[in-house]
Amino acid sequence: MTPITLHTLQQMKQKDEKFVCITAYDALFTQLFCEAGVEVILVGDSLGMVLQGHDSTIPVTMEDIIYHMQCVKRGNQGALLIADLPFMSYSSESQTLENSARLMRAGAHVIKLEGGAWIAESTRLLTERGIPVCAHMGLTPQSVNRLGGFRVQGRDPQQANTIIQEALMLEEYGASMLLLECIPAALALTISEKLTIPVIGIGAGKDVDGQIMVMHDVLGISPITPKFVKNFLAESKEGIPGAIKSYVAAVKDESFPSPEQSYN
Ligand code: KIV
Repeated sequence: MTPITLHTLQQMKQKDEKFVCITAYDALFTQLFCEAGVEVILVGDSLGMVLQGHDSTIPVTMEDIIYHMQCVKRGNQGALLIADLPFMSYSSESQTLENSARLMRAGAHVIKLEGGAWIAESTRLLTERGIPVCAHMGLTPQSVNRLGGFRVQGRDPQQANTIIQEALMLEEYGASMLLLECIPAALALTISEKLTIPVIGIGAGKDVDGQIMVMHDVLGISPITPKFVKNFLAESKEGIPGAIKSYVAAVKDESFPSPEQSYN
């Protein structure tokens, strides 16, 4: 597969072609996802919940993400690889730069940080030094305690406006991508129309540029199933490869997520 770059995703956005993202944590699933046509793979701190059995992403360490990124890199066949900076690994400038460099050395092409205006300066610092940033807004799981649980964000107009303004600010500070988690579909549409960078959604409706799912959700083995999750394995006649191909096809033809799998 021709390697996917930020430029590829930018062109897809311009042509209104949806791209497909999924989380992965090891080499063989990564290979399978690439063969199914997935364009972007995230080594997410969701590994704390789906691999390690924690009830949040907070216990995940840099060493955890580095280890899984190294595994994913070995199985990669051209997907764009994003790595999460875990909880409290980007609280100062020097820590952000050093930890991002460690993830890039482990194989990441893009670094993902959770936050709004407060990560603008880090976004600028990283971008100026050649490290592309994916900003993660809306429901930011590392702040689950402050948010009072895994709840939909941006439902009241004031909060929605803050998300829009901060997304614009992060683009201005150099973010290369934006990920929106658990926000109303109409808000996600507004943001992806206002921004020139590719916008990925999870629980953000279908009108963003790409969709992402945690691989365990696609395979229907997560204990918690919010409304935006779909088990693609349930209807697959070709096991796991068939499930991933169906996920890819459903994102491309915009049948996933449906209105029932979105927030309004
Ligand atoms: O860590 C992760 O897997 C994520 C997804 C939920 C987007 O950030």
